[in-house]
Amino acid sequence: MGMSSSSTGLRVGRLQNNLPLLSVSPQSRLLPRHFLRSTLLLLQRSRQDPTHDVGKSRDAHFPSLFTSLSARSRSSVRAVATASAFSEMVKAIRVHELGGPEVLKWEDVEIGEPKEGEIRVKNKAIGINFIDVYFRKGVYKAPTMPFTPGMEAVGEVVAVGPGLTGRKVGDIVAYAGGPMGAYAEEQILPASKVVPVPPSIDPVVAASVMLKGMTAQFLLRRCFKVENGHTILVQAAAGGVGSLLCQWANALGATVIGTVSTKEKAAQAKEDGCHHVIIYTEEDFVSRVKEITSGIGVDVVYDSVGKDTFQGSLECLKIRGYMVSFGQSSGTPDPVPLSALAPKSLFLTRPSLMQYTISRDELLEAAGEVFASVASGVLKVRMNHTYPLSEAAKAHADLETRKTSGSVVLIP
Ligand SMILES: NC(=O)c1ccc[n+]([C@@H]2O[C@H](COP(=O)([O-])OP(=O)(O)OC[C@H]3O[C@@H](n4cnc5c(N)ncnc54)[C@H](OP(=O)(O)O)[C@@H]3O)[C@@H](O)[C@H]2O)c1
Repeated sequence: MGMSSSSTGLRVGRLQNNLPLLSVSPQSRLLPRHFLRSTLLLLQRSRQDPTHDVGKSRDAHFPSLFTSLSARSRSSVRAVATASAFSEMVKAIRVHELGGPEVLKWEDVEIGEPKEGEIRVKNKAIGINFIDVYFRKGVYKAPTMPFTPGMEAVGEVVAVGPGLTGRKVGDIVAYAGGPMGAYAEEQILPASKVVPVPPSIDPVVAASVMLKGMTAQFLLRRCFKVENGHTILVQAAAGGVGSLLCQWANALGATVIGTVSTKEKAAQAKEDGCHHVIIYTEEDFVSRVKEITSGIGVDVVYDSVGKDTFQGSLECLKIRGYMVSFGQSSGTPDPVPLSALAPKSLFLTRPSLMQYTISRDELLEAAGEVFASVASGVLKVRMNHTYPLSEAAKAHADLETRKTSGSVVLIP
């Protein structure tokens, strides 16, 4: 196997079967990762286009690297590259067995390089959502075991798969709602699942609002269309989704009633536009809603608490009201007999963000409306809790024991 080396410590040569090889010496390991990744990107390009001169690439972040290679080395690189030369490890949270927060382990993982239609993203901030708790506990079944949790992150594109257009290295992108695996320093994503983050929005803010904001968007704008004059009930009004629901519904002209567990959360819900706040750990929320609405009831209940509130939520509805059961933070609600809806001709739905962002157009529209609402000030994002990624277990414990309000974010 003939090899030629450069001053960078990168060596190019050919294996016995004549396949070109790029090797990384201890010296080149000192180079920044993105430097190495830029190299790989160019290698991939040169594989697709044998006439592509890596040394002259206008897209190269570090063209000096290539000029430092000998002519013979460049010609080898130009042919084909073996991506395996870049098998780097990144840190990630992994779950090997279902259970409490302690099953979230901080480990080294190898994620490989993006294939066709994929991008590799270096995460800047990762949003924590209650759905991550459901997967960790086994309420929802993870597609693999072990698995890395997380459905929402914002990061920088550090590599793009072969042939991909429309995304480039350096783009800041956000994703929410899958595929799972966001609790990682870096991850591979289908390019079709990410959206660009407007430069005016800080990446940590974007990671705090993408999934929760799109949830508020579909619940208020499409699932049941809230309009001026409606009266609505939001359970867990100071939570991540709850805070955004209250602000947005208030801006739409609704009278907003919210429930919370503590006085501190009540103060936040008030600030977020709740006209009436009920501390449901101290007061009977059903009688309070009846009192507030003069016995008529509300047009819609957005209930994410589930087991503990579901029955009471039905009782709070007016005739032909909408029961939107979109979560189960306290446990899965008991089955509802159809006959329970008859006395008031109620509507009942159990919606999920995934089904409201199926098409690329729906995803772009929902994300666009969220980012526009943040930029215009309609939504103030409460980034109340940030944790290092390695401390995801602590973040889960706090979310589950109702210690948090607003958004919870992990920083790699
Ligand atoms: N269907 C969808 O597409 C979709 C999308 C996103 C989120 N969700 C759901 O929306 C809900 C909110 O998600 P989030 O991430 O923003 O969480 P979150 O609301 O910030 O946290 C959950 C809140 O629920 C309340 N809660 C009441 N009983 C609880 C109990 N026994 N254990 C834990 N919490 C309890 C707590 O508020 P208090 O202390 O004030 O009671 C707690 O802070 C979750 O149920 C989630 O599954 C659904």
